[in-house]
Amino acid sequence: MAGPKAGEERILILAPIGRDAATIGDVLRRAGLQGVVCPDLPALLDSLRAGAGAAMVAEEALFGRGSTSLVEWVEAQPPWSDLPFIVLTSKQARPEVPVWRKSLLAKLRNASLLERPLDALGLSSAAESAVRSRRRQYEVQAYLSERALAAETLKRLVAERTSELEAANAALRLEMEQRRETEEALRQSQKMEAVGQLTGGLAHDFNNLLTAIVGSLEMIKVRVAQGRSCELERFLSAAHEGAMRAAALTHRLLAFSRRQTLDPRPTDLNRLVAGMEELIRRTVGPAIDVEVIAEPDLWASLVDQNQMENALLNLCINARDAMPDGGRLTIETANTTFDDRVARERAVIVGDYVVLCVRDTGVGMGPDVIAHAFDPFYTTKPMGQGTGLGLSMVYGFARQSGGFARIESEVGRGAAVNVHLPRHVGGSASADVGPVLDAVPPLQAGATVLVVEDEPMIRMLLVESLREQGFTAVEAEDGASALSVLRSIALVDVLVTDVGLPGGVNGRQVAEAARAERPNLEILFITGYAESAVVSGHLPSRMHVMTKPFVPEALVDRIRGLMSAQRAIIRRVRPGT
Ligand SMILES: Nc1ncnc2c1ncn2[C@@H]1O[C@H](COP(=O)(O)OP(=O)(O)OP(=O)(O)O)[C@@H](O)[C@H]1O
Ligand SMILES: [Mg+2]
Repeated sequence: MAGPKAGEERILILAPIGRDAATIGDVLRRAGLQGVVCPDLPALLDSLRAGAGAAMVAEEALFGRGSTSLVEWVEAQPPWSDLPFIVLTSKQARPEVPVWRKSLLAKLRNASLLERPLDALGLSSAAESAVRSRRRQYEVQAYLSERALAAETLKRLVAERTSELEAANAALRLEMEQRRETEEALRQSQKMEAVGQLTGGLAHDFNNLLTAIVGSLEMIKVRVAQGRSCELERFLSAAHEGAMRAAALTHRLLAFSRRQTLDPRPTDLNRLVAGMEELIRRTVGPAIDVEVIAEPDLWASLVDQNQMENALLNLCINARDAMPDGGRLTIETANTTFDDRVARERAVIVGDYVVLCVRDTGVGMGPDVIAHAFDPFYTTKPMGQGTGLGLSMVYGFARQSGGFARIESEVGRGAAVNVHLPRHVGGSASADVGPVLDAVPPLQAGATVLVVEDEPMIRMLLVESLREQGFTAVEAEDGASALSVLRSIALVDVLVTDVGLPGGVNGRQVAEAARAERPNLEILFITGYAESAVVSGHLPSRMHVMTKPFVPEALVDRIRGLMSAQRAIIRRVRPGT
């Protein structure tokens, strides 16, 4: 700690009357102390403000109102300061003096009395002890100010650190925000890229098909105009094939967009696989061993069987393409249960799933191929060999069926694609795919079919082909006119209706209104994709779905099937009819 500053140890002397001041100054000087004589109270106060070790005051200088300003100075001292006063008294006859003295001592706080006449030793020792006690006060002051300084420094450091942290935090937030924006922009551009890829691929494929269709029709027109009927057959089949391929393309797209009209039924996947095995063997060729590992107690799944077959075939074709030099294709079924964690990861519901796994020993896929394999139009196959829609269809179909699909593969180590489908509980599983049409006897003439379709070209085609096959076909272009037809004619055996219809009454509503009046009516919805929600899930009995596009012949066959099923039911209910 630093030593006393100049003036901090001086002893101020206020003894204006007589020679006391000079004497005291002498005594102090001799004792090695620094005495400063103040001529009056204002001078004493000035010197006190400048700093002092003690004050030696003759009491008569403070009589009357003289002490007020001094007491004010005493009270205004900082907390560490308690200046020692030595009050010089004199023998006084006046009786009020002792009382006054007592109160003065209290007001000066740190005061002692020294009686006159003074003796040199008493004076100097009182002065020394006062200065010593004052020294300790200065030490306390130094200590306190050092502490205050340290606290101040600490506060400054904390403030600096806090603002540094705040700045770092703000920078971090900014960075996070920028990263989020970048990610958002990246996602957006990926989305745009995917949309571009999709529309580009679609336009390319459709243009090819349309070229084939339009070209063939043009050829037919020219030949018909020229009266040449030769080769018409060839162009007709080319146009037809182009149209069928376009239809297959839209199906795969709808499967990917998860908007196809599914007809989910309780299905035994083992049976479905067994039914496909021969076709798969023929498709992959003799260089590839096909092995089926069927879980003996496989659960049933609720799935559209046609689409499941398509998916399985797509996976097997991919496997074949991955094994140009032959290999082994394994089709395996299994049961599995997802707990909370897995279900969250795969965005599916907790519970039981049936797995169909198609595994090959082919070239395999690297992580970047796996990352894109489910994207529509993503293909690594040479131009013209793959549309890149196979896996996207499988994926979309699995998701739409309440499950998911997953690829496990490494380059050079084969690939496995797992399709997980939710378990179906209750209802018996089957793997039959529609009625066997060959066994249907020809329909009696006169069966009446009401066709409700807003697209005139389709309506015309359907009505014409029904009439050609001996049906009585009645047509309606929207829901309201369908209802009035139903009201006006007595007999309608089958109602064929589009789902999305103009004019506020949709196909489903027409069907329900018709069914209320005619409980035995067979109803067949014909639909593209958008209305699939209206007829999704389990349809009531005698309501069926057929997905566009289809050839009119297929519709006629389907109606025959429905009629014969109806007759069988009626025969069971009323034996002998
Ligand atoms: N079993 C497999 N082994 C290795 N790679 C595969 C396998 N299955 C798919 N892939 C990769 O994933 C890509 C996309 O497959 P996807 O079935 O969607 O389209 P594609 O087979 O190329 O064409 P498409 O199925 O439309 O004819 C393939 O081009 C191929 O690179
Ligand atoms: Mg494929």
